[in-house]
Amino acid sequence: MCGIVGVIGRRPAAPLLLDALRRLEYRGYDSAGMATLVEGRIERRRAQGKLDRLAERLASEPLPGTTGIGHTRWATHGVPNETNAHPHLSEGVAVVHNGIIENFQELRAELVARGHHFATQTDTEVVPHLIGAGLARGLDPKEAAVAAVRRLKGAFALAMLFEGCDDLLIVARKGSPLAIGYGEGEMFVGSDALALAPLTERIQYLEEGDVAFLSRRGAMILDAEGNEAERPIRQTALSGALIGKGNHRHFMEKEIFEQPAVLGDTLRSFADPATHRITLPELPFDFQAVSRVAAVACGTASYACLVGKYWLESLAGLPVDWDIASEFRYRASPLVPGQVGLFVSQSGETADTLAAMRHLRGEGCPALAVVNVPESTLAREADATLRTLAGPEIGVASTKAFTTQLATLACLAVGAARARGRLDPEREAALTKALDELPARILQVLEKDQEIRAIAAELMAARDVLYVGRGTSYAIALEGALKLKEISYIHAEAYAAGELKHGPIALIDEHVPVIVVAPRDHLFEKTASNLQEVVARGGKVVLLSDAAGVAELGDYAWKTVTLPEVDPFVAPILYAVPVQLLAYHTAVLKGTDVDQPRNLAKSVTVE
Ligand code: AGP
Repeated sequence: MCGIVGVIGRRPAAPLLLDALRRLEYRGYDSAGMATLVEGRIERRRAQGKLDRLAERLASEPLPGTTGIGHTRWATHGVPNETNAHPHLSEGVAVVHNGIIENFQELRAELVARGHHFATQTDTEVVPHLIGAGLARGLDPKEAAVAAVRRLKGAFALAMLFEGCDDLLIVARKGSPLAIGYGEGEMFVGSDALALAPLTERIQYLEEGDVAFLSRRGAMILDAEGNEAERPIRQTALSGALIGKGNHRHFMEKEIFEQPAVLGDTLRSFADPATHRITLPELPFDFQAVSRVAAVACGTASYACLVGKYWLESLAGLPVDWDIASEFRYRASPLVPGQVGLFVSQSGETADTLAAMRHLRGEGCPALAVVNVPESTLAREADATLRTLAGPEIGVASTKAFTTQLATLACLAVGAARARGRLDPEREAALTKALDELPARILQVLEKDQEIRAIAAELMAARDVLYVGRGTSYAIALEGALKLKEISYIHAEAYAAGELKHGPIALIDEHVPVIVVAPRDHLFEKTASNLQEVVARGGKVVLLSDAAGVAELGDYAWKTVTLPEVDPFVAPILYAVPVQLLAYHTAVLKGTDVDQPRNLAKSVTVE
């Protein structure tokens, strides 16, 4: 998704803007630009492609000025080229935008009829023209900006610069996140706290419909009704150091290897290692009165929800409807009394997940969110939040966020089962102990990194790869297939292993590797039969199992990865790691952009 930054400072703005944009690269983009005020007039530099291209442009054509705005663009309307790159200018106004202006065609037609000429194909360009029209009517910049913003429909975060106004930056937020940073005699704005981390730790999040006027002295905020509003200034825990790659080649590799540590942090926030007892924060409902759960998310987070479904149903006896958010929000799903919503999201800004939660809450259904970014919109709007303590996840492909989501959902399922009187203390202690031991078990899996890399070296030649599993392993098969396709661009699909016979087995031949996720749980023997069906048709099986499973089936497999034996309850968390490593190494060997794969964004803030 697009990234926005802005600064009103005492120092040259361009280097600050460029560094802040680099911290937003993880969101995904295909062009970039910035504009500053130089002796009261707007100057702009833009470039197609990565930020290095913009840096080269700035090196050859320096951009002075201490007030400016910057942008990384993930194309929605208009091809990713320099012309369509932000900032967009008109009548002395420069604008950068994240989101989609849904009524831009209507506004554009109105402005063209009034004599405005457009230089780009973008939806964004209507904003500076709308503001310019207000200025031409005699409004001052603040009035013109508010009037323009109030006419926009859709999702947007905006930062606006005005010629002749060196101590003014106007920003607005509706549907896309925006954070204001407080410096010493300087003010900043960014799409998230990560962008501002090296500049300030004092962060203020705008609410839906807010418009803010920034000067070097501070910010004045108007709420959606036009009344002056106060928003809390938080001390963010992020620092510049958190966001480096350390000695890893990619953020994704660093984040895979951080999993033992962040899983430990997450688990300790719910499970007492001494008593092996799970403690959940205050929830907006009593699990004994809950009749049904709607578990809703997107992408990897939706696969965490699927595992959560199996756990909540088997442990707590709670019926769970599993939905991807983009379907759920438009499916007229009848709600039942006592239903609650469970929403999982790393960023807490995914448009479809947010809309699904707002829909359910609008129906009077309490919403519980599992989120990694504490100040995110989902965290702020949910009735209760369970925090994953994964730390900032920069790689577009989700890894540590996924396993900490699973750990959090595992604790939720245990807490729900206990609350519903379905879990005796001994079983709870056994499950919690299995969770406590996970970080150490995952360290053992990470020691197989080079073994898995060797398998990736052969997998990379495949044109199609299948992943299969049963029960919670089916969700891991889905996650493994998504990991492989999103960073290596190899086509991969996942199936419930029992589904192979109903069609997909027609795909099997010696050219199609099949990754079989097979912890020795109650479904192992069933999965073993499915593995045999694949092998009987010349399929090449990569078997993921523990020592006993590999001993039983290894002779039939093309490749095997022997994983530590764990309680089947925690197997999905452990088995996520080999499929992450398999995808990572395949992508590295293929030379794709592992941390910022093509066409993808880290946080999909548009629907
Ligand atoms: C997973 O690797 C992808 N980055 C993507 O599927 C992601 O999980 C999805 O967009 C949901 O994002 P969220 O967790 O921030 O809501």
